[in-house]
Amino acid sequence: MRNWLLAAAAAVILAAPVSANADPMVLKFSHVVAERTPKGQAALKFKEAAERLLPGKVKVEVYPNSQLFGDAKEMEALALGDVHFISTSLSKFDKFTKKVQLFDLPFLFDDIAAVDRFQASKDGQDLLKSMVSKNYLGLAYWHNGMKQISAKKPLIKPEDAKGLKFRIQQSDILAAQFQALGATPQKLAFSEVYQALQVGTVDGQENTWSNILSQKFNEVQTDITESNHGVIDYMVLVNNKWWTGLPADVRDGLTKAMAEATKTNNETADKINEEAKKKIQASNTAKIHQLTPAQRQEWVKAMKPVWAKFEGEIGKDLIAAAMKSNQPKTN
Ligand code: LMR
Repeated sequence: MRNWLLAAAAAVILAAPVSANADPMVLKFSHVVAERTPKGQAALKFKEAAERLLPGKVKVEVYPNSQLFGDAKEMEALALGDVHFISTSLSKFDKFTKKVQLFDLPFLFDDIAAVDRFQASKDGQDLLKSMVSKNYLGLAYWHNGMKQISAKKPLIKPEDAKGLKFRIQQSDILAAQFQALGATPQKLAFSEVYQALQVGTVDGQENTWSNILSQKFNEVQTDITESNHGVIDYMVLVNNKWWTGLPADVRDGLTKAMAEATKTNNETADKINEEAKKKIQASNTAKIHQLTPAQRQEWVKAMKPVWAKFEGEIGKDLIAAAMKSNQPKTN
């Protein structure tokens, strides 16, 4: 009788679903921007969707504003397994792949719709795997928006930027872009930009409306030119070995959650940036300048020669494919 009871008790214990009692897997998502930005909102959507689709199995902790890892450390942290998801600006990969530098070529894409068409194409999708040999896998692209240029003086003609110091992301193309204007580029982590503008270490910067507003750059700059001269978008990255080693049901659920977050991001990025622009316009801070088509053409003329220097490492075919995405019907 006693043996029978022990056997029955053991059977009950073994039959209990292990996962029901196991702690959820804690997944850390780190990024460098504020929550009220396209990336900040998409990361929160990913958390909501992942926890809904994998109830009790995962808990996603989102760390915005470089709280966990800033620009300098997030790639290394992902390699070491100290963070599970990062969503990094496409301008910060030139140490890892020369191809993704494509997105930094000034005046390559007419607008975010063109960027979206390129990212959805085979060439765009292939770039998500361009760092797999270094153990980084891109799961998705997320949009932010087109870049605007700001300083402590109006920038109407390219010559207005001459002699000024501009903060740039970690990108040799962006460095060349400012050198082409006769300006001095300075690579700085995102978390350091506000202070650098405030104390005058740098005179200007380039960023999207939502980043400008949420970081209060408009309070330490007097003028912003709506130049739309380039793009800031992201690749959501995982450690490839970790990702491929996940239980299939968890990887599936996270893939679906990522698709939901990407959809939210695609649907809201433009709106978030437009609202940020309106808030800056309504505030008593930096003045926004529009360029006439002829004035904008001067900026194109000044910046576009940079392409020639990088087309060898990026590849002429890839650049041609990206340019094609400016024509909606043929891509
Ligand atoms: C920057 O460093 O200026 C931005 O790319 C930050 C970000 O992630 O949007």
